[in-house]
Amino acid sequence: MDYIDLKYKPNKDDLICEYYIEPNNISIKKACNDIAAESSIGTWTNVSTMNKKIMKLRARVFSINGKYIKIAYPSELFELGNMPEVLSSVAGNIFGMKSIKNLRLMDIEFPKKIINSFKGPKFGINGIRKNLGVKNRPLLGTIIKPKIGLDYKNHARVAYEAWIGGCDVVKDDENLSNQNFNLFKKRIVETLRLKDKAEKETGEKKAYLPNITAETSEMVKRGEFVKKNHGNYLMLDIITLGWSSLQTVRNKEFNLPLHAHRAGHAILTRNKKHGISMLTIAKIARLIGVDSLHIGTAIGKMEGSKNDIDDIEEEIEKELVLENKKEHFLEQKWYNIKPIFAVCSGGLHPRLVPRLIKIMGNNIIIQAGGGVHGNKYGTVGGAKAMKDAIEASIKNIPLSEYSKNHKELKSALEQWK
Ligand code: 3PG
Ligand code: 3PG
Ligand code: MG
Repeated sequence: MDYIDLKYKPNKDDLICEYYIEPNNISIKKACNDIAAESSIGTWTNVSTMNKKIMKLRARVFSINGKYIKIAYPSELFELGNMPEVLSSVAGNIFGMKSIKNLRLMDIEFPKKIINSFKGPKFGINGIRKNLGVKNRPLLGTIIKPKIGLDYKNHARVAYEAWIGGCDVVKDDENLSNQNFNLFKKRIVETLRLKDKAEKETGEKKAYLPNITAETSEMVKRGEFVKKNHGNYLMLDIITLGWSSLQTVRNKEFNLPLHAHRAGHAILTRNKKHGISMLTIAKIARLIGVDSLHIGTAIGKMEGSKNDIDDIEEEIEKELVLENKKEHFLEQKWYNIKPIFAVCSGGLHPRLVPRLIKIMGNNIIIQAGGGVHGNKYGTVGGAKAMKDAIEASIKNIPLSEYSKNHKELKSALEQWK
């Protein structure tokens, strides 16, 4: 049991992980020892090549509390600025070991040294608010629907209607990229042209979030194309494209905010006994440097509890997050890494807006696809209904009251109970 040291006090340079663990027919202590060994310097047996100096680099299990354990990793184990490598250690082989039945990485506490080796977001909440000139209220966004299938002209037209109706941001859907029926370059040029028109007509700043997700070098080319055409945001499917690709895009310094869609996260996060928590994924995304991140809604079409979503929001917005023993997340000092926008999306419509704002506050981007384009009054009316719902919520006026002289909102309330 070389890797267990319940008296060990982590030092400021250690990286700490909390795991939920279910051993497979062995004692919890033995399982902890196996995990700390395999995720740092060890293997299944003693090796003749081991020496005292290397043993000093071992991970140490310093807390075992029922099925929750904490492990401290000396930061020398990690290459600075290399997220795949950190994860190959603490979220790697250990998830497939026969001696473990279930394992869930609840949180990673990154030491200052590692935090400082990543860029973090360029804009963050304040930067995006400044770009769009929106001070206190939640931002309103839509996703073009049907999610794929529209040609580029109709795509741009729907975006235009959403902006005119009151949306601040319009995004591509997660599975739209460069399909034959809607080629990326044509879509970008036309949608940005109509963005300018919408800005002139409304006198408001608007953002278009084009999905550039693709093979890394192609994705970079698409980012360059958006930049060249005076786009003002990039969108990425951060789970399917991978952390290293995300970092490549961040390091390119496009000087554009990055919007992170999390499609596929539930493969890792949904099983509460095995995998990685969404909180950990959100932390990694903030550290690498996205500016807005989908975190769920707790009340829309996607799975996710209110508690979890509160915790994730706190993690991406605060400078200092205190340890929460009950929810099993660790302390984190964020140093110079900016807070990022929580994006609430998936099955939202006007009726849900007051509750959403109550749960999550004003520093959110509220996005609705079906809840905008499904409105009986079409996309313009649908966007207006969402905007009215936000306004009513902020003024604390019940939607039933506000909808008396806002017909689009009234229709939404009748359509979606
Ligand atoms: C969607 O694409 O339908 C959603 O935005 C996904 O929802 P999530 O943000 O809760 O994952
Ligand atoms: C997203 O990508 O966020 C969504 O497609 C949400 O769409 P919905 O509002 O129709 O669920
Ligand atoms: Mg979508």
